[in-house]
Amino acid sequence: MDIAGPNAECKPRKIKVTELLLRDAHQSLLATRMRLEDMLPICEQIDKVGYWSAEVWGGATYDSCLRFLGEDPWVRLRELKKALPNTPLQMLLRGQNILGYRHYADDVVRRFVDKSIKYGMDVFRIFDALNDVRNLETAVKSVIDGGAHAQGAICYTLSPVHTLDKFVQMGRDLESMGCHSIVIKDMAALMCPVPAYKLVKALKEAVKVPVHVHTHATTGVAWMVLLRAVDAGADGVDTAISALSGGPGHVPTEAFVESVAGTPFDTGLKQEDMIPIAEYTRSIRGKYKEFESSFTGADPRIFISQIPGGMLSNMESQLKQQGCMERIDEVLEEVPRVRAEMGYIPLVTPTSQIVGTQAVLNVMMGERYKTVSRESKDVFAGRYGRTPVPVDEAIQKKVLGDDKPITCRPADLIPNEFDKLTAEIADRTTDEDQVLSYALFPKVWEKFWENRNKPKEAAAPAAAPAPAAPAPAPAAPAAPAAAPARAIGPATRLNAGGRVVLGLTIEGRTYEAAVEVVEP
Ligand code: CO
Repeated sequence: MDIAGPNAECKPRKIKVTELLLRDAHQSLLATRMRLEDMLPICEQIDKVGYWSAEVWGGATYDSCLRFLGEDPWVRLRELKKALPNTPLQMLLRGQNILGYRHYADDVVRRFVDKSIKYGMDVFRIFDALNDVRNLETAVKSVIDGGAHAQGAICYTLSPVHTLDKFVQMGRDLESMGCHSIVIKDMAALMCPVPAYKLVKALKEAVKVPVHVHTHATTGVAWMVLLRAVDAGADGVDTAISALSGGPGHVPTEAFVESVAGTPFDTGLKQEDMIPIAEYTRSIRGKYKEFESSFTGADPRIFISQIPGGMLSNMESQLKQQGCMERIDEVLEEVPRVRAEMGYIPLVTPTSQIVGTQAVLNVMMGERYKTVSRESKDVFAGRYGRTPVPVDEAIQKKVLGDDKPITCRPADLIPNEFDKLTAEIADRTTDEDQVLSYALFPKVWEKFWENRNKPKEAAAPAAAPAPAAPAPAPAAPAAPAAAPARAIGPATRLNAGGRVVLGLTIEGRTYEAAVEVVEP
């Protein structure tokens, strides 16, 4: 039997595998709640497998560490580096947004990248929600200057203006910026096998750097997409260990490895090395049951609505708050109109929330763009960057009034701000790690800092009073997501005076009351 693979004319090469367990897999399936203490015990085994990289940081994990887990994200990074000395660490970076929701000055972006490299980050996957490469420039340059691997991301989306040529041109732009590799980032699982084949093939013909593919299993086509991408010449794929895969997550690593085993595209990874990782992951998954996404199958309806799951749950919670769930169909019809008027921006954090919120406002206010969120206004003003095609001019005039839109790179208008941010919290700390956390999530950081020495919940969450929303990323400030699920666990201890201190830990924050215990 010929085992040369489905497309034998394609150059034989070892496919590189990025394991997503410690970042995107738990972000997609467990609401980003996995704690460092549950990661460390399996790192030694992960380190033995021979992955091209392990994605372990960035995306929503930084926010989640500070907001929900009482964990210092920088400590997590350093600990993971120690535990994974042989596997390149990878993170997801939102270009000029870093990991936050606004554009930062260049000096903050540089500091953030430098620190990440210093603490052990090896591969930076950098994307911009608008695919405006100007928003990637500072981050890409900082990564290259720091000697790490810069991977430029093309956000995949479907629209009348997102043509093959446009994506390929972006690939060329990323290569000329100096990116060491390119990834097609299909966050909404909209890429089908044939378009994937065509896009990878066209990119491979246009650029010299390796091309990787990142997709989600949400719509059920990811398995076929990865294989067709390999046929077309892809150099690397992203997968997640079977025990935390599928649904809104990813293709199982073991399944992909077996699919190309013995062909000229063999990954070189061994099934037996991955068995303990799957077993361990299965054993801890129950701890996070309350955060599990309720949807675990395939949902091809997304092909029609083109609305990512997290965005849908966001809009639903906004309508619920207003007691207007019955208007969801009108809102769903409004989404593509708003998106077209905003120049067909891809629906990814944070633009998905901006479009969703504006669609809700347009329906609820009875007149379109009568009320406009600040973020929507910023899109029309060019403050997020250049939209794929120009925004609707009439609406732009209505929204901006006398204000003039900008056409330069948005960060060109932001003066350096690191010193100012440092001064703002100088009464509490001058530690640069903390200044960066404060810069990204000011309010969340303040609470985190207040509670930093309180005991953290050690045990598994015992109760689940609120269902977890299947939101892959926290909402932008404009669109608060449903109230987060709460983890409640006991944290009782004896204080110095011999009194019993009863503690109640909610989401990593402990509330305490000392009580007298009377001996019987
Ligand atoms: Co992803």
